[in-house]
Amino acid sequence: MKLFSRNSFIFDTNTTHLNTAQFISESSLEKIEKASFTWQTPSNIALIKYWGKSNPQIPKNASISFTLNNCHTKTTIDFLKKEKSMEAEFKLFFEGKEKAEFKPKIAEFFKRIQQYCPYVLEYDMTIHSENSFPHSSGIASSASGLSAIAMCLISLEAALNPGLTQEFINKKASFLARLGSGSASRSIEGPLVVWGAHPEIEGSSDLFGVPFPYKVHPNFNNYKDAILLVDKGEKQVSSTIGHNLMIDHAYAENRFKQANENLSQMADILQSGDLKAFVSLVESEALTLHAMMLTSIPYFILMKPNTLEVIQKVWQYRQENNSNLCFTLDAGANVHLLYPESEEAPVNHFIENTLSPFCEKKQYIYDHVGAGAKQV
Ligand code: DP6
Repeated sequence: MKLFSRNSFIFDTNTTHLNTAQFISESSLEKIEKASFTWQTPSNIALIKYWGKSNPQIPKNASISFTLNNCHTKTTIDFLKKEKSMEAEFKLFFEGKEKAEFKPKIAEFFKRIQQYCPYVLEYDMTIHSENSFPHSSGIASSASGLSAIAMCLISLEAALNPGLTQEFINKKASFLARLGSGSASRSIEGPLVVWGAHPEIEGSSDLFGVPFPYKVHPNFNNYKDAILLVDKGEKQVSSTIGHNLMIDHAYAENRFKQANENLSQMADILQSGDLKAFVSLVESEALTLHAMMLTSIPYFILMKPNTLEVIQKVWQYRQENNSNLCFTLDAGANVHLLYPESEEAPVNHFIENTLSPFCEKKQYIYDHVGAGAKQV
């Protein structure tokens, strides 16, 4: 049971949200020998961060993200009917090459979902996957990667059981994606998705992401995200380890409470269009996420010197130009710059001229808010 108090209310977000039985698939109505589905699903960038979870992939606080557009994974799964096996059998190709090192994570994912998708034991699966962003760019691909697999699976389920509603399909795809990687639950739809039960977000759940259900101010239409590739190397500490370090973290309970309160504030900001308030809340969330890393036992630092250089330059630029440009960070050294469409030309000029020297090989990626998964 999770209790929040805000404005002296006590909210009980107990069991109704945790009804997983709805996701156990019915036995198939159709017979399908062979099928193939291709989906392209995006990455996302959290404004209020998910950091800390319990089993099975239940977040300690609610989070919200912008769904991205250009950073995506494209995945095809070929299904071939076979005798039912004890565990899922699949081949995995990444950018055309068989990738043994990615298999354990996907095998674990299939194990977690087989009770909801028994058909994964009844088909041989061949998975082909590729990312739009450069390999080893330090951009987390688990959100786009796992959500693309989830969409291919749900397409098979919809073919086996015609009549599933689009709403159920999206919900279950997000539910499955979450079991692969928490943030992947926020990559099925767009432009803003909330994951985690929150008393002020109608329909929100710990089990799946839901589109932000209120009217968003036009200031946030087509919001921009430029990703500065400050460090393209592999992270020394994975997100999974980082989440686990929140278990006995001295500040954990306050952080989870703060994140839920910050989401309440963010919900107001998204509706009012208050860009100044948006900037300070987004940057505070990013720095708090990294403060949790600095104060974990063992402690660790994922920012690099150039991450801090960029942050200083952004603050200076904002002051000199009365701009609404701000930064956020995920669990790495790269910097996401968020800015309204109306500031696109001057900010892009600033990135090219002033910030690109702080990026590895001067590389950065222009992206913007997108609509979610697309069938190809
Ligand atoms: C810092 O979703 O990568 O990006 O559930 O263990 O796969 P797992 O973790 P993951 O964690 C993402 C953490 C974050 C913040 C966020 O996206 O909300």
